[in-house]
Amino acid sequence: MTFKNEKGIHTDFKERMTYGDYLDLDSILNAQHRLSGHHDEMLFIVIHQVSELWLKLTIHEIQAASEAIQSGNFDSAFKKLARVSKIQNQIIQAWDVLATMTPAEYLEFRDYLGQASGFQSYQYRMVEFALGYKTPHVLKIYEKDPELHAMLKEAYEAPGLYDVAIEALAKSGFDINQEVLERDYTKTYEANESVEAAWIEVYQNVEKYWDLYELAEKLVDIEDWMQQWRFRHMKTVERIIGHKTGTGGSSGVGYLKKVLDHYFFPELWNVRTKL
Ligand code: HEM
Repeated sequence: MTFKNEKGIHTDFKERMTYGDYLDLDSILNAQHRLSGHHDEMLFIVIHQVSELWLKLTIHEIQAASEAIQSGNFDSAFKKLARVSKIQNQIIQAWDVLATMTPAEYLEFRDYLGQASGFQSYQYRMVEFALGYKTPHVLKIYEKDPELHAMLKEAYEAPGLYDVAIEALAKSGFDINQEVLERDYTKTYEANESVEAAWIEVYQNVEKYWDLYELAEKLVDIEDWMQQWRFRHMKTVERIIGHKTGTGGSSGVGYLKKVLDHYFFPELWNVRTKL
């Protein structure tokens, strides 16, 4: 028997799963522990947690998109990659909320963070790994946690989304150098002429290679948004801490500017000049 109030809404949840049960809201909503007790620390914690949740979905979608590309199911991959871009858009907007925090407000609780820093975000590194940028330092950070370490190592050693896209080029008959197809996935991807030649051919024959062309543009979207996220992070950090060193021990803004120079899918950007 079910109980409903006059608006037709269920009111008897004794035997039923509630909204909160399903979403495990008790765990999520009780995970904001302000160490300083300062008002603005809540914003700082929530922004990071929200970003980590979106990163979780990003990893989930990229993994599924990679599998779809491997099995030649391009439409399904495009749907997932389009979702990744929308998520990226969301986390970029989050900087607007964080930028309402002034340097004085941040200083109220900064010392409580100790050496904790987004630099140690293992999900962020998993996204970078999936995009072919292999920075192993996070493996060292999580050495003491065998389960997490094993998960990170697996992601570190796996081919990235771009490797899978290059395989798709080879499967479509493009002459891709063997050294690229058999490359060491623990190394950051580096540009290769045979891959660039293949993408040029794709962009010059859009109708013929529509799936590969659309895949290329979806990858460019993701890289573009990733760079915009990095840029907004760098500028928001400059606005809040100026050129102080980071809690994670880096030079701070100087370091964040430097990572902006990295290209995930270099040939797809070179193609723009070569066409
Ligand atoms: C007041 C806000 C913030 C400040 C002052 C700040 C500062 C910094 C600094 C200085 C670094 C360089 C590493 C270090 O020395 O610590 C860094 C790295 C990082 N931060 Fe933030 N951050 C802030 C907010 C965020 C938010 C909201 C996220 C979202 C998850 C985030 C994610 C990251 C990531 C992923 C890195 C590593 C970047 C890389 O290695 O390329 N940060 N942050």
